[in-house]
This record gives sequence, structure tokens and C-alpha cells, in this order.
Amino acid sequence: MVEKQKFLVYRKNPGETPRYERYTVPLKPGMSVLEALFYIQDHLDSSFAFRYACRGAICGSCGITIDKFPQLACRTQVTAVKSTKKPLKLPELTFGEVPNDWNQETEILIEPLPNMEPIKDLVVEMEPFWKFYEEVKPYFVREYIDVQPESLQSFEDARSIEHLVYCILCGICWTCPVNATNSNYLGPTALAKAYRFMADTRVDDSHRSVIAGRVSKEDGVPACEKHFVCNRVCPKGVKPGTAIQNTRKEYLTP
Ligand code: SF4
Ligand code: FES
Repeated sequence: MVEKQKFLVYRKNPGETPRYERYTVPLKPGMSVLEALFYIQDHLDSSFAFRYACRGAICGSCGITIDKFPQLACRTQVTAVKSTKKPLKLPELTFGEVPNDWNQETEILIEPLPNMEPIKDLVVEMEPFWKFYEEVKPYFVREYIDVQPESLQSFEDARSIEHLVYCILCGICWTCPVNATNSNYLGPTALAKAYRFMADTRVDDSHRSVIAGRVSKEDGVPACEKHFVCNRVCPKGVKPGTAIQNTRKEYLTP
């Protein structure tokens, strides 16, 4: 007999009050939560909306909240959801009125990412996320040197920023309680990305100080309240909170 898994899923149409719908999905070996969402869309309700692209934990599109823990749907196995230990001290995440009869033992609760406006179902408005990302100017600026190789970096220097380079811009670290209350906060993603370039030995000093100037504004690094929720939820081990702390120590005047 095919095993089945029940899901309780956040649904919302633009301009309407959110509701929760129940679906039962037949399991396949190794099935990810993203595959279960596809099953719902393909077989149970074609109007169900969610984002994805790579299906391999690379593009960062499929961030959602699974049983009150923000994660990548493509990297989360359905059968592991109930047994996986959640990070400690996650903030309370509320998206709508979860039905009182939600069976937490047997039903997987699916909701959008926190602190971003839901547009439809699991699709959230990411415009502020991208605006803050662009604001920190997260790219290389250096004087062109017409000599090969152009951008030498020692192995040690590369290793020191390697974990920051792994950021896939999924927005899961916006689970940060400061993002919940301050809509102008640059957010852990942009601040970690800023540090990734400030700490890169190939970036020239003037660009480094431009980035430092941008992240030192009131709603940048100083607004971080050191909850470190971002470190605990990041699926790629980036540790944005540590990057923010390093920025404070290394580049901002006390
Ligand atoms: S720092 Fe981690 S959680 Fe935040 S956007 Fe990058 S990969 Fe996602
Ligand atoms: S679909 Fe790309 S990270 Fe999940």
C-alpha cells in the first residue's frame, strides 16, 4: 500500500483573507516537500502557487515555512520533517489563523516565508529584499590591471570568506525579529553580502568604504539586535549574524 502524508497548507488570493487547506499526498521514496507541493498543484489544485527553479538548493527560490521552521522546500525530505530538530529559540511565526484541529503529530504545516508580504499562497513580495540587496552595492570594484592573472587571492583569504560566498539569496534569514518590526532594516542577507565584499582582499579600499558607509546607517548594522536567528536558520551555513558582528568590530567606528 502506498504511504500517504497529510499537509495543511496556507492559501491566499490577492486581497483576500488567508485560509488553510488540507491535502493528502502519496509518498515516493526520497520525496522532497517541493515534490509534494508539485503533487498538490498537478493533481489536487492547479491554482496553488509557489516558487522554485533549480530543485537543488542552489537558486534560493523555494524558501517556505515548514512546521513553523523556515527552510528550502527542495532540500527538505517529507519523511524527515517531523523528526528533524528545529533550531533553538525561533521567533513565533504567525501567518493566519491555523485551524485548532491541526494535528501536529501527523500533518505537515506549510506556510510562506515570514516578514515578507504574501502575494498569493506561498509566493511572497521580495521587492524590499532586492532593494536592500542592491543598496549595499554587493559586487567587485577594482582598478583594471592589464596583467595576468588579474585577481590573485591567497588560499587563506579565499577560505576566510568562503562560507559567505555560499549565500543563495533565499531570504530565509529574514526570519530575524528585527525584520518583523522594522521595514527599513537592511536585513541579514544584505548585511552578510556587504561583509562578504568588504572582507574580500580583492576589493579596493574606496569601494570598501562605500559599502561600510551604506551599512553603517541607522537601519543597517546598528539596527541588528544580536538575536542570531539568521545564523540558526540559514540553510547554507552563512552565519549572517556573525558577519554583522564582524562588520561592527572591523569597519564601523564605535
Ligand atoms: S544568508 Fe543564508 S538564509 Fe540568508 S539569504 Fe543567504 S543563504 Fe539564505
Ligand atoms: S528550488 Fe532552487 S533552492 Fe530550492
